Amino acid sequence: MCLDVVDKGSSEPIVKDEAGQLRVGVAGLGLIGEGAALRLIADDDYAFCGALVRDASKPREAMPAGVLITDSIQDFLDAGADVVIDALPDGEIGRALIEKALARGVSVISANKQAVAGSLDVLTSIARRTGAQFFYDASVGGGAPMIETVQRARAHGDIVEMTAILNGTVNYILTALAGGAGFDDAVRRAQDAGFAEPDPTADLSGDDARAKISILSYEAFGAEVDGNAISTEALDADLARKIAADGGVFRQLTSVTLTDGVASSASVAIVKVPESDFFAGVKDEGNALRIVTADGRDFTCVDKGAGRAPTVASLFSDLETVRAALPPRESN
Ligand SMILES: NC(=O)c1ccc[n+]([C@@H]2O[C@H](COP(=O)([O-])OP(=O)(O)OC[C@H]3O[C@@H](n4cnc5c(N)ncnc54)[C@H](OP(=O)(O)O)[C@@H]3O)[C@@H](O)[C@H]2O)c1
Repeated sequence: MCLDVVDKGSSEPIVKDEAGQLRVGVAGLGLIGEGAALRLIADDDYAFCGALVRDASKPREAMPAGVLITDSIQDFLDAGADVVIDALPDGEIGRALIEKALARGVSVISANKQAVAGSLDVLTSIARRTGAQFFYDASVGGGAPMIETVQRARAHGDIVEMTAILNGTVNYILTALAGGAGFDDAVRRAQDAGFAEPDPTADLSGDDARAKISILSYEAFGAEVDGNAISTEALDADLARKIAADGGVFRQLTSVTLTDGVASSASVAIVKVPESDFFAGVKDEGNALRIVTADGRDFTCVDKGAGRAPTVASLFSDLETVRAALPPRESN
């Protein structure tokens, strides 16, 4: 049973009539999780069931008093959510949470690619067994509907190739470099804009894009690409100097090709692209995907790939899908 939410600074509880409301818990109250929680609290279609965090004693100015904030997965799940939003930054904890939630029949919507990548087979089979719904659109592409685009292409015919800009932080840095910024300055600007983590290693090394192409491959080919088989080029100060000296348009392109029914030649590379290229037009924190099907047809999508607003919008698009599929709840 979800806790009633009491408005901070007011003695009046915001008690929602739970009839027809989807009960949602949020794991992680950072940039993404807090954004999702605030939107849930403001939306009468949902009842906010509480949050899972690392440090439950931390002051949370934006959260109303009386709301469950816990560091215990057990207590979080016992709050009775129909759906859990996973906005944790940690792969292992995220995966454990998703497994436990799905095993209980609780649907999961995850923005956590580190939790999802490499485990999609296991997680989707738990969901199938319990009848829970499992979405991970927000873990790839931010606001760009990449999973949806893969599904559309797949419905049309066999996918033979996918190329994408999957890391908004690196794209933001490459755009800043092209505008004359130095490497350290470009990284700092990405951090100040809220796109890069305090430690941006996973973005710059290409590991983030590697996890995301694995997720897209699962959607496109029914199997994830082996992470070890993805050649990866890092963006560092040396490469940034070469890019600046060249003066051309560079993008971090992640691609995977299908050969004889198997995903092959997967790579994450910093590539010079012609100025007229589809990917050259994707600037700042933009993400983009181009898919080619066996009959030569192109499917594309492009949008902001990082940040609170586009990611929360993606989570809510999946929440709406879950809500629409649930039978109406009886009023208490
Ligand atoms: N930022 C973006 O633009 C973006 C876009 C798409 C997807 N994502 C994904 O969304 C997820 C969240 O990103 P974010 O930027 O919101 O992260 P963040 O700002 O660093 O927030 C992380 C939150 O998770 C909690 N947390 C961390 N470790 C935990 C643990 N072991 N157990 C329980 N709670 C834990 C933290 O708790 P405390 O508050 O107690 O420290 C914090 O509330 C990540 O997987 C990220 O890859 C982010």
